[in-house]
Amino acid sequence: MEWKPDRNSKKSIYKQIAEYIEQGISSGLFPADSLLPSERKLAQELDVNRSTIIAAYEELRSIGIVERRKGSGTRVSTDIWGISHKRIPNWGRYVEDGSFLPNLPLVQQIRSEVQNRELINLASGELSPHLIPNDQFQNILSSQPFIENLGYDHPQGNELLRETITSHVKQFKNIETDASSILITSGAQQALHLIVECLLKPGDAVAIEDPSYCYSLPVFQSAGLRTFLLPVDKHGINPDDLLSLHKKHRIRMVFLNPDHQNPTGTVLHPARRKRILELSFELGIPIVEDDPYSLVSYNGEVNPTLKSMDYNGNVLYISSLSKIVASGLRIGWIIGPKQVIQRLADAKQQVDFGHSIFPQWIANKFLGSEYFAAHIDKIRAELELRNHVITSSLKECIGDKVKFSIPSGGIHLWCKIDPSINEYDILNKSMEKGVVFVPGSILGSQKGNIRFTFGRAEPDDIQKGILRFAEVLEHLQ
Ligand SMILES: Cc1ncc(COP(=O)(O)O)c(C=O)c1O
Repeated sequence: MEWKPDRNSKKSIYKQIAEYIEQGISSGLFPADSLLPSERKLAQELDVNRSTIIAAYEELRSIGIVERRKGSGTRVSTDIWGISHKRIPNWGRYVEDGSFLPNLPLVQQIRSEVQNRELINLASGELSPHLIPNDQFQNILSSQPFIENLGYDHPQGNELLRETITSHVKQFKNIETDASSILITSGAQQALHLIVECLLKPGDAVAIEDPSYCYSLPVFQSAGLRTFLLPVDKHGINPDDLLSLHKKHRIRMVFLNPDHQNPTGTVLHPARRKRILELSFELGIPIVEDDPYSLVSYNGEVNPTLKSMDYNGNVLYISSLSKIVASGLRIGWIIGPKQVIQRLADAKQQVDFGHSIFPQWIANKFLGSEYFAAHIDKIRAELELRNHVITSSLKECIGDKVKFSIPSGGIHLWCKIDPSINEYDILNKSMEKGVVFVPGSILGSQKGNIRFTFGRAEPDDIQKGILRFAEVLEHLQ
């Protein structure tokens, strides 16, 4: 047999062997009802363990392509050829082999627990239903007629919304732009995905914060990118780290979440912002500034965004209504050079033919109304209260076992716990007690951290949740 499994492949050896035999069966190399080589012989020929061949044959048996009988070896099934139209595709293999990677198993587990059980939710990065401006939305819906074109809209998104965003970012973020430099996306998430897929290619080196929301996203790996980590300290990333990563790996893009960062809550220091921009201008590294949280700084002070200081066109600015209005609206946007925006809009067209007009219409009405500023004031106060509840509950219950910096905005609290505690144990035991959070290893390379999100749960529940977590922690130590 000339064929040999590829030992450098990511695919396991037994799967490669199963696939090889499956191909051989469909090409006629191994006809129906023929006896396949014995496990021992095939193991010798392919230079693998016999158990690997057993696993490959077992895989083929489970999908009905071969039959195995004790003492008489492994045969190609007889009914494959006559009734080949009845063969079931090996969905398991399709599901595993697609180039777009699934979420981490732990992320999937947390999502399913949150959906299926009554838990105190200190995991989901969103606002509580009580903080979503439902009444204002009802007022808009009942007082203003919806008369919009229900055909496909402009590839970059509804023009009225893009104009409103132009004024919004001027007023709140000091960013000068115009509607033609904006693309409406399905949240900041789609903006990140489009950038990764359209502007980078497999093998490109990108720098992301450690820990960070980006660290948790499989989209970078799916796109074949090499990700390098920029450690986050209490003032955000250190520009010198970016410089040394660039010298070693030629960084093609850097992804930053400068304000009330997810998960650390950190605000990037103004001097570091300036230096990062200088480096970007000197070295030509594009910056993706992901900014869903800056408006929820509790004292109302918003730092100059990188984009507002970018006279060169180096920054792709992303924001979204998810963390300040409603995550279910799925309204996000990118601001950048026109040629980039057009390229991304073309890709969005291929993916979904543009954004639905309904959420764009209501987002436009709400953002452009007097409700918006009052709503932001309310959200700031409510989140500050929840922040106070979670930090004081932690201090009271387990102040000696958990360390954190109190964030000045946003919805996340990053806590350090004893790194010898097994994260899965503490998460599973906490879920048994009815509270869920995100273990730090999903979001960063360091052990011994936990992210609590306090935007989703009500203050009383936050207190209860921390009490339950504290009980679990006490028992584990
Ligand atoms: C920093 C950051 N960027 C992007 C997103 C994606 O949010 P959305 O797609 O809902 O706007 C999140 C969500 O948690 C986030 O924290």
